[in-house]
Amino acid sequence: MERARIIIDCDYVKSEIDDRVFGSFIEHLGRAVYEGIYQPGHPTADRYGFREDVAELVRGLDIPIIRYPGGNFVSGYRWEDGIGPVEKRPRRLDLAWRSVETNEVGVGEFCRWLRKVGSSAMMSVNLGTRGLAEACNLVDYCNISGGTEYSEMRISNGDREPYGIRTWCLGNEMDGPWQIGHKTAYEYARLAEETAKAMRQIDPGIELVSCGSSNSEMPTYPEWEAETLDRLYDYVDCISMHQYYDNKDGDDESFLASGVKMDSFIRTVAATCDHIMAKHRSKKRMFISFDEWNVWYHSVARDDEFMATHPWQVAPPLLEDRYTFLDALVVASALMTIIDHSDRVRIACLAQLVNVIAPIMTSRDGGAWRQTTYYPFETLSKYGRGRTVEAVVSSPTHNTRKYGEVSDIQALVTRNDREGTLSLFVLNRSLGRDIDITAEIRGAGDLSLKDYQVFASGDLGAVNGEGDERVRMEKGCGAKFADGRLEAKAGRASFSMFLFSAQREL
Ligand code: AHR
Repeated sequence: MERARIIIDCDYVKSEIDDRVFGSFIEHLGRAVYEGIYQPGHPTADRYGFREDVAELVRGLDIPIIRYPGGNFVSGYRWEDGIGPVEKRPRRLDLAWRSVETNEVGVGEFCRWLRKVGSSAMMSVNLGTRGLAEACNLVDYCNISGGTEYSEMRISNGDREPYGIRTWCLGNEMDGPWQIGHKTAYEYARLAEETAKAMRQIDPGIELVSCGSSNSEMPTYPEWEAETLDRLYDYVDCISMHQYYDNKDGDDESFLASGVKMDSFIRTVAATCDHIMAKHRSKKRMFISFDEWNVWYHSVARDDEFMATHPWQVAPPLLEDRYTFLDALVVASALMTIIDHSDRVRIACLAQLVNVIAPIMTSRDGGAWRQTTYYPFETLSKYGRGRTVEAVVSSPTHNTRKYGEVSDIQALVTRNDREGTLSLFVLNRSLGRDIDITAEIRGAGDLSLKDYQVFASGDLGAVNGEGDERVRMEKGCGAKFADGRLEAKAGRASFSMFLFSAQREL
């Protein structure tokens, strides 16, 4: 059998991991909000209409930040529609997703739901059909304690305490011609610059994210990043990245190597930020908010057809990708890549969370259940916190049509000093061969192997369903660990997590 070697020295710490890389996203789109997180009358609904079965699965992922309310939706959204007495809220056409928005859930309800699930908001403002004034009014409504028209409005709507929203996105995918109010780099940068300055005057404690390219295939990428940051460098803290991976052409090997593409995208955007830093003779480091990433392709053709043929309706079933085991491996690889870039990536959002390209699905008259993608995300979120540690990997390689020669083994090491643990995550991207792994762990003193879990399936196309979560993490067996040396087998197309605990402090 082929063999890979991983050398780990616990003193070679690379970076702190910002917990917010385990973020996610809820958009007013399809059944994410209505019939997703919110469904008054459902047997598990609390007195505010939030589904407890969904909340429990969300809590299981331990997500510190959730982006809201869009997405493409935000570029036509009037946030004031979603406040005040529910019965007086207007129903409006949502042009982004050809839907009817009832506005039953707005910023106040969303913040209440966040408290229920133990998360915080990443709020996006509409820079498509609206601009500076409306964004400022929203910051005032959310973050000012009282004494202004908007903060008093929040108080009279029942929320005495400000929501204290720290992180704000200046629009969404403004480079995309599909975006309502799409802009050129110049137009966007000017609007974002003035909006950022004004928002910060209202609350100097906020963190601002400007729009990067919608994906790395955009014709304006990476010039968009360079041109917008040239103007925005002093006013924002992060630039956004978005990317979805697909297997439309059925090239499984390339698809499973999508992490390579993500890695190069992150490096390019980071280099572009550093170019502008040098140009401005600035000492400030620009960070990345990878605030939309996932696998997305199963539902695309069906959704195009649905939107073209169906009348406007509330909560249409859109973007309901049913994820396979192979898709979940790609999700594992992408999140490992993001964590590995923690020196640069401060926020990342799995897009999205419930029903819409989501790890959690619901049925209207039934329960909530976990897609295949839930499991690797849960495992990385649970065991991948702390700091990243250098892992030197020598592995067999294989050829892929899209990315050339790719290492079979992708590895990630994290150490969590609070828990006294070290985690090793191993993804075998080869579809054809099992690999024997030897990992040498140096500089950690006495370690013991506390847990070993494996995500594997004989069927790349296996999916989960309601009451049938057949694809899941399982207890691993056959790994040996002694004197700082791990011997284990990484089966073809599999993801493994090894958790070591220290007898004394790491
Ligand atoms: O997440 C689905 C959509 O993908 C978002 O609304 C948009 O920002 C992106 O194109």
